[in-house]
Amino acid sequence: MSAVTVYVPGDAAAVSVGADAVAAAVVREADARGVEVRVVRNGSRGLLWLEPLVEVATPSGRIAYAPVAAEDVVALFDAGWLEGGEHALRLGDITQHAYFKDQQRVSFARVGVIDPLDVEDYAAHGGWRGLQQALAMAPHQIVQAVTDAGLRGRGGAAFPTGIKWKTVHDTTAPQKYIVCNADEGDSGTFSDRMLMEGDPLCLVEGMAIAGLAVGATQGYIYLRSEYPHAWRALNAAIANAYAGGWLGADIAGSGKRFDLEVRLGAGAYICGEETALLESLEGRRGMVRFKPPLPAIQGLFGKPTVINNVITFSAVPAILADGAQAYQAHGTGRSRGTLPLQLTGNIARGGLVELPFGSTLRTLLYDYGGGSASGRPIRAVQVGGPLGAYLPESLFDTPLDYEAFARVGGMIGHGGIVVFDDSVDMLQQARYAMEFCAVESCGKCTPCRIGSTRGVEVIDRFATHGAVQEALLRDLCDTMLHGSLCALGGMTPFPVLSALDHFPEDFDRVRQPSAA
Ligand SMILES: Cc1cc2nc3c(=O)[nH]c(=O)nc-3n(C[C@H](O)[C@H](O)[C@H](O)COP(=O)(O)O)c2cc1C
Ligand code: SF4
Repeated sequence: MSAVTVYVPGDAAAVSVGADAVAAAVVREADARGVEVRVVRNGSRGLLWLEPLVEVATPSGRIAYAPVAAEDVVALFDAGWLEGGEHALRLGDITQHAYFKDQQRVSFARVGVIDPLDVEDYAAHGGWRGLQQALAMAPHQIVQAVTDAGLRGRGGAAFPTGIKWKTVHDTTAPQKYIVCNADEGDSGTFSDRMLMEGDPLCLVEGMAIAGLAVGATQGYIYLRSEYPHAWRALNAAIANAYAGGWLGADIAGSGKRFDLEVRLGAGAYICGEETALLESLEGRRGMVRFKPPLPAIQGLFGKPTVINNVITFSAVPAILADGAQAYQAHGTGRSRGTLPLQLTGNIARGGLVELPFGSTLRTLLYDYGGGSASGRPIRAVQVGGPLGAYLPESLFDTPLDYEAFARVGGMIGHGGIVVFDDSVDMLQQARYAMEFCAVESCGKCTPCRIGSTRGVEVIDRFATHGAVQEALLRDLCDTMLHGSLCALGGMTPFPVLSALDHFPEDFDRVRQPSAA
């Protein structure tokens, strides 16, 4: 009998709840029983509340068991799980699970499915097709395909990727660069990490295609140092891609070159801002640069540079493989394609949900998330990281679409959704936004450097000085909004003002008659 494959996620989220011990227990028990088992450390399927979610490749398909603890393994063998046997933890085919079956996985199509480091397994699941297409195309045709797909940057600003690539393509510099922003600093976000751990070759392929499109032969992935599992996965995947002839001087025998390296950041939120990232990558302190010049004209080491988020690059192989129209067919309005949303905070079923643009927060929070983890009513959600607005229940039907969110003062950003129940104190959340800005400010401009600290003080004075603080706080937010050099200072007012506008009672509660 050939070895039975057992998939135990090596994803950091699964490891944090015992997946390594489960993998070891599976090997140990199989040895003890003289059964041949091949353990594959796959990515996570994204149902994080069920991790460690183990799948067994049975003759009738993959059968999931979850959440599995190391102590469950003996009983699972006793139940005949290698043939898909019944057990209290048996979930069956996970792709038919309510959380999963209506998702439309494009960027995450292989995450949790394949052995992340295996170039052959990657190819067997549709990998490298996009790169092969790109090798047969002229650079401007690749740029056109990305433009036609309607892909917009998934790192936060939603800038059209095709326009950025065309700018770099149209420069004549002999050396250009591709940089991947893998700093993933936003609160409540983990899609970059899951992709890099679960399907790192997809990012490698997307970046290689970008290199062919704009004429860049060198790429760098700027990875946050807090992601050691992603660091290992990326380096191993890159080494395997070189060995397989998918990177280097002669990609797939085409005579075209693309080299790729990973560089570690040092844990500053501002190093996710693209120009601060470039400073850091060049070996300097992460300080924001003035724009212009845009990085597309003068970026890394002063050369034209494409800088995109992990998920942006990871959408590219599918666009080239299946055509711009197939990608563009997903979504709504000017928000095309799919978005991997991340459900976190006070939510019963946290995890990753990839859907076309256009679904609503309510669908995500209740149909997928199952409501709050505490069982109390959900009062607020913050979408788009620490600079995103707090949205009240009355806005939960807003479609997830960049423009629709902008109309209600929100932003989708990197797709992180942090949930709060009715015990949240929104004044404290507003204070936290200012405090976060004060801690993370690069210090280059006054409205952010000084304004954020003053913001904390003004909010603290609501308790003692009352209503007069509101005008002062709004005035300060206005200065930060219009006077800051980058979006850290420029967008911190969004969470603050949204808390004030949508949850005024939390500010009233502490508001005393003016002491003045
Ligand atoms: C303070 C700040 C932090 C940011 N952090 C990130 C980040 O962690 N990851 C990211 O991809 N983009 C981040 N961005 C956005 C980047 O500046 C830039 O827009 C992005 O890398 C462009 O890639 P995209 O077009 O693919 O989104 C941040 C921006 C600001 C202002
Ligand atoms: S807004 Fe803040 S982080 Fe951005 S450049 Fe100014 S001081 Fe630096």
